[in-house]
Amino acid sequence: MNRSYSISSSPTPRDYIELTVRREPRGAVSRHIDDLLKVGDQINAGGPVGRFTFTGTEADSIVLIAGGVGITPMMSITRYLTERSWAGDIFFVYTCRAPTDFIFADEVAALQRVNPKLRVAVTISSAEGTDWKGPRGRITKEWLTQTVPDLASRRIHLCGPPAMMDSTKAILIELGVAPEQVKTELFGATKPTPAAAGTTAKPTKPATGPLVTFSKNNKSAKIHVDLQNGDSPPKQSILELSEELGIGIEFSCRVGTCGVCKVKMTSGEVEMAVEDALEPDDKANGIILACQAKPKGDVTVEA
Ligand SMILES: Cc1cc2nc3c(=O)[nH]c(=O)nc-3n(C[C@H](O)[C@H](O)[C@H](O)COP(=O)(O)OP(=O)(O)OC[C@H]3O[C@@H](n4cnc5c(N)ncnc54)[C@H](O)[C@@H]3O)c2cc1C
Ligand code: FES
Repeated sequence: MNRSYSISSSPTPRDYIELTVRREPRGAVSRHIDDLLKVGDQINAGGPVGRFTFTGTEADSIVLIAGGVGITPMMSITRYLTERSWAGDIFFVYTCRAPTDFIFADEVAALQRVNPKLRVAVTISSAEGTDWKGPRGRITKEWLTQTVPDLASRRIHLCGPPAMMDSTKAILIELGVAPEQVKTELFGATKPTPAAAGTTAKPTKPATGPLVTFSKNNKSAKIHVDLQNGDSPPKQSILELSEELGIGIEFSCRVGTCGVCKVKMTSGEVEMAVEDALEPDDKANGIILACQAKPKGDVTVEA
């Protein structure tokens, strides 16, 4: 089973990388890591991949907005910029449910002591019954404006769970931030789709969307255009359909950044909301990301 984890350490150490994994109550891999993985065990790892990076050359200040375990890539950036004594302002804006969920609190405080350019603002969404003395509640337009002066003119990195990302993106748009200034990374934690093999929930209506042919498996099926599944968009992706048919396309991130789900499309057209993992060569050769690909019409893929 593949899953994606951000590197939370700075890129400078050569002998280790640090990953920080949140235990998902019903998660297959995060529970395995937490419950069973021991020092000395071997794991297979690929990467690093993705474009959610900031080295200090891209802008002269940076706003890092994170929710929950979305703090991990922000720690890497903050550690690196602090090591380098980067001259720009770093706004570290964080939200999580309870004070105990702020896992890097001590280290962020230590970084603040050595880095006068690092400004930290944390709001706790469910602080009732705790002794948290700082801001409470979710990220709001007013709080963000007070926390980061001239927000609209700065480069912003945003990472967290889907609901927090959506509400924060809406606030940024309202505040007039240009979309190209906002870099995002969605931490999937996608629940199994109703159609996926091994799940008991099934779509209630027959599929009526475009026909997808998986040529190596000699199987075809129509896309569900009315899939109701909480976090999933209403239209099924080619990866989700392949899971329904037991095709076995590999995946990891499910958000378009790792490239594990690349397949060749031999006919048809798809739209992909995120295609960070595709190189120009891939695009020229008809390679698509199955996790992102929503067919516009009938499609054939080599899988
Ligand atoms: C680019 C990227 C970077 C990431 N970086 C990090 C990181 O640094 N740290 C980190 O902790 N995570 C990170 N993630 C998330 C991580 O990849 C995994 O998605 C996460 O660890 C959950 O994997 P899992 O195998 O434990 O859960 P899965 O088994 O994949 O389950 C996914 C979710 O569905 C729920 N679920 C499972 N089965 C059921 C069921 N039958 N009914 C209802 N709900 C169910 C689980 O509780 C879980 O919330 C990142 C994701 C991406 C895409
Ligand atoms: S699974 Fe990572 S890009 Fe599709």
